[in-house]
Amino acid sequence: MTAPITAPTTAAAPRPLPGTGAASGVLETLAFFRDPGFARRRFERHGNVFETRLLGQPLVFIRGERAITDLLADSRRVEGWWPASVRDLLGSRSLANRNGADHRARRRVVGQLFAAAALRRYSPAIVALVEELADELGQAKEPVALAERLRRFAFSVIATVVLGLDGDDREALFADFEIWTKGLFSFPLAIPGSPFARALAARGRLLERLTVVLRRAQAQAAAGEPLAAGGLDLLAGGLDEAGLPLADDDVVEQLLLLLFAGYETTASSLSCLMLALLQHPPVERWLREELAGLSWPPAPEQATSAYDPGRAPRLDAVVEEVMRLTPPVGGFFRRTTATLVLDGVEVPAGRVVQVALAAHNRHAPGDADIETFRPQRHLDGPCPVALLPFGGGERVCLGKALAELEIRLLAVGLLKRVELELVSGQNLDLQVIPSPSPRDGLLVRSRMAPREVVA
Ligand code: HEM
Repeated sequence: MTAPITAPTTAAAPRPLPGTGAASGVLETLAFFRDPGFARRRFERHGNVFETRLLGQPLVFIRGERAITDLLADSRRVEGWWPASVRDLLGSRSLANRNGADHRARRRVVGQLFAAAALRRYSPAIVALVEELADELGQAKEPVALAERLRRFAFSVIATVVLGLDGDDREALFADFEIWTKGLFSFPLAIPGSPFARALAARGRLLERLTVVLRRAQAQAAAGEPLAAGGLDLLAGGLDEAGLPLADDDVVEQLLLLLFAGYETTASSLSCLMLALLQHPPVERWLREELAGLSWPPAPEQATSAYDPGRAPRLDAVVEEVMRLTPPVGGFFRRTTATLVLDGVEVPAGRVVQVALAAHNRHAPGDADIETFRPQRHLDGPCPVALLPFGGGERVCLGKALAELEIRLLAVGLLKRVELELVSGQNLDLQVIPSPSPRDGLLVRSRMAPREVVA
């Protein structure tokens, strides 16, 4: 028998990095902010990996499982990267701006806030916040801007439930935090009165207030008193890369990062989830059939698992589909520290790469309904695109388990307790920066659900 003829074992030479040819990047930057199909159009022209210039910065865009896997495969050949405005407002101590052992040590410390035991501790307070929101919606006589309520809910979860801030601290933080957020994706020049300058001033006040909160929690823990709320005692004893306790100003910058990372993203996913259900009544009915077999509120000791994918697969499929079509983080970044080959294309060292999740999630050659909202696809078999709404590799989202818990509890609680209806004539288009959210705030009329629906 003759041996089969096999292809030569040498891999094909990598292709050079295609570029859009942008010189200054001014037109590309305008197109980026105006055109939701910016990345898709360029992928169609140049393939899954291409380079352009935005805000004077060369930027490589990638999509497709192969290119993303190649990027995340070896953490020694990439590092974290954020635009200058985000970098400055988060601060140099923030784990988002650190790499290597510095980064890993801080993830270990902060990760204690999101371990399974911590989530069990938080879940009764999250359920109580859902109940509070359902009561408010059930009693509202006028239309309510639901997106705004969901922002407040998401802020309360991270600020009150996780960080343990009480009413006054929370209100003051919320106001400063909104100013700080507006500076995040602004031009990073502190000209007096500019969004960036106002955000820097708000950052100073936020850090001061968070320091007071941290010191209060430390004093209570030292006195052996239980905390009234939150998980800050879980950080006690967290060590840095040299085995020394983290300094307070270091911990406080991590807390600011958590407010940022845990708020806008979760608020966006909640608004997009409710919007998708309100726009697709057959999907809402299909989901309600599943929820009819589940009770609300969950028993306290089961709150973290009562609606998990095993018990509520349709809910899981709906959340997956919302995250696919409207990912809260439309793209995340890395900078290459060595030459990499991504999906056969050579990317030199020192390039900033954006994983273009929003475009990636809608790219499945041969799948005609990939643009359609169809949660059932996640139950029919593997999704044609690899989904990474929480990123990947060693910088994968630290708050993933909290976000998933929060989304499930809110979805089940609201659907069980209230009936919502869209107010007609509003603009339901999404503004996409910093995270997708309906332009007119998702105006709904709401009423209590009939008694028999409440289990
Ligand atoms: C639906 C909600 C959320 C989504 C879609 C989301 C998504 C992401 C993504 C895409 C990244 C970048 C990952 C990467 O670079 O590979 C990230 C990072 C991060 N997220 Fe989330 N996130 C969510 C909620 C949260 C929550 C609730 C928290 C905590 C309270 C949180 C904390 C973080 C932190 C600390 C990082 C930085 C990790 C690092 O650089 O090592 N996120 N998240």
